[in-house]
Amino acid sequence: MATLEIRELSVGYGPVRALRDVSVDVPAGAITAVLGGNGAGKTTLLRAVSRTLGFHRGTGTGTIRLDGRPLDGMRPAEVVAAGVIQVPEGRQVFARMTVADNLRAGALGARGGRRAAATALQRVHELFPVLAQRAHQRAGLLSGGEQQMLAMGRALMAAPRLLLLDEPSLGLAPLMAARIAETIQEINAGGTSVMLVEQNAAIALRLASTAYVLDVGEVALDGPADELAASDEVRRRYLGVVDETAAEDAAQAEGITRTLSRWSA
Ligand SMILES: Nc1ncnc2c1ncn2[C@@H]1O[C@H](COP(=O)(O)OP(=O)(O)OP(=O)(O)O)[C@@H](O)[C@H]1O
Ligand SMILES: [Mg+2]
Repeated sequence: MATLEIRELSVGYGPVRALRDVSVDVPAGAITAVLGGNGAGKTTLLRAVSRTLGFHRGTGTGTIRLDGRPLDGMRPAEVVAAGVIQVPEGRQVFARMTVADNLRAGALGARGGRRAAATALQRVHELFPVLAQRAHQRAGLLSGGEQQMLAMGRALMAAPRLLLLDEPSLGLAPLMAARIAETIQEINAGGTSVMLVEQNAAIALRLASTAYVLDVGEVALDGPADELAASDEVRRRYLGVVDETAAEDAAQAEGITRTLSRWSA
């Protein structure tokens, strides 16, 4: 298990400011959620942790510490070796490779060598039996949900201490999203800290102990997940819950307008 501390992180892509003064904590053994709409900076935050910002021409300031050790100056491969694995947005499995080869690729550069890889593979097959059944099939032929399982399975092959998940429920039917959510819980229970980026606030707030809401690159809200789930602002903006009093007022106002227009007609 690993502890992650992000302090006053600001990131830009050339003239585009993507994050400003963002501080986030992922305590050891916890699931921490980061919510926010399109372009809020969620993926950028994960790229900063995995040190892959450079691949996207991004640059940042601030500090990121893993178990107290700064990640600054580390290469992406060193971050992987330290036990931090990112599951990218949109799965990005190797479509032409078999499921088994995708999983094998996940163990490259990880700690522990062959023995660790064999143990990890067994665990991945327990969590996702479909990946054992489809071992020799090309990954590109899997369904969206199965590809998400493969992307997560590939990450687990490196026996991560901290898993960075970028919108795992994106584009999945509710039943499949619920299964993925259950697995995230299981992975966490097995001793992996999780940073979960999601637009699906309902799922994320159910899984996480703490959550942060990003709004155009800044932390707009943060706190215990159950408190955020109960907050009117989060319910209205991110959970699609209509504020009943406001809705009633609006309905009443509309009724009055209709009556007035009938009168004036
Ligand atoms: N490689 C890049 N070059 C320039 N701008 C970028 C790049 N990647 C992201 N951005 C910009 O940075 C901001 C944050 O993007 P980011 O992808 O982190 O948001 P996000 O919260 O992950 O959004 P989504 O929910 O759509 O995935 C956006 O304004 C985006 O256009
Ligand atoms: Mg994103």
